[in-house]
Amino acid sequence: MQDSAHAFGFSETEPLYSTKLGSLYCGKSDELLSSPGFRKIQGKVQLIFTSPPFPLNTKKEYGNFTGAAYVEWLGKFAPLLTKLLKPDGSIVLEIGNAWQRGEPVMSTTVLRALLKFLDEGGLHLCQEFVCYNPARLPSPIQWVNVERSRVKDAFTRVWWMSPVTRPKADNRRVLREYSDSMKKLIRTKKYNSGPRPSEYVIGAHSFATDNGGAIPPNVIGADELPSLTNILKGTNTRSSDQYQLFCRDNRVPLHPARMPSELAEFFIKFLTEEKDLVLDPFAGSNTTGSVAENLGRRWLSFESKFAYAASSLSRFKPALVPKRRAQRIIAALQVSSASAINSPALTS
Ligand SMILES: C[S@@+](CC[C@H](N)C(=O)[O-])C[C@H]1O[C@@H](n2cnc3c(N)ncnc32)[C@H](O)[C@@H]1O
Repeated sequence: MQDSAHAFGFSETEPLYSTKLGSLYCGKSDELLSSPGFRKIQGKVQLIFTSPPFPLNTKKEYGNFTGAAYVEWLGKFAPLLTKLLKPDGSIVLEIGNAWQRGEPVMSTTVLRALLKFLDEGGLHLCQEFVCYNPARLPSPIQWVNVERSRVKDAFTRVWWMSPVTRPKADNRRVLREYSDSMKKLIRTKKYNSGPRPSEYVIGAHSFATDNGGAIPPNVIGADELPSLTNILKGTNTRSSDQYQLFCRDNRVPLHPARMPSELAEFFIKFLTEEKDLVLDPFAGSNTTGSVAENLGRRWLSFESKFAYAASSLSRFKPALVPKRRAQRIIAALQVSSASAINSPALTS
């Protein structure tokens, strides 16, 4: 299947589409970001937020690397991306777990990839987050459903990195509503102060102050915990709904590894302020760009596959993208999906 911008009459070195706040390029981010045209953004990016292709055993449509080749491939992005950061900037990577082929044991590829990435970029690991997805289908199927010897793999890891130990960050931008019991405690100011078994000492006034909300944990999406996703639910789901409807109506495949908008929303709010520049080098359906746009941040996204890049346009309100450009992209997308449907690989 033809899947480059070139094959559909678009240039890779110009944005496929732009809004007032950002642009999406359809091409390989490593090639584009190393080209002279992008030198001007070196030292200007506040946050690189992305979910790179995962190291899979069975290759997804977008052709992920596996094993040592994956570690090398991802590691090469570290110096390239670090160079783009402002002095107090951050890189946040979301990566799923990988399993060894044919055995019920986990692959350590993602962990090796993290260490390589930190080394190659001269980066600190500021904090690790776990993103729990209760809706995930049971996998790996053989070990979980057939042999019943493993449990459902239901989280991805999110690594927050920076070349400095104190990058720009403010958890006051991501506070959650207090629980009912906490609200009561602030109201009544009655609780047991003093030492706890954990050796913490709770002061007489520690919990009496209303700080405007609770500080979120680094576990995202766990039901039993005060969850980020619960708090943010509904705030930014519109673009995802629009995207799904658009793909269905135009018979375009949905991106198979979309991230929840809430995840992007959390890190963009936490690590940037309005007008800061957010970059996603593996944009897929451009969740990052659309969330950044809604939050008033400037953004730059890169996606190598034309169909994913083109259909991501539907995440943006029509008024944001010049009409002629949008019509041309949609016409090319329809040609691309018709050729995919008729290709022997899919019809046989
Ligand atoms: C895990 S997906 C990202 C999904 C995205 N976060 C979303 O919410 O839709 C990774 C994407 O990176 C793209 N990709 C792989 N290598 C690339 C490269 N060198 N440059 C740009 N995009 C690339 C793949 O086509 C794929 O769509």
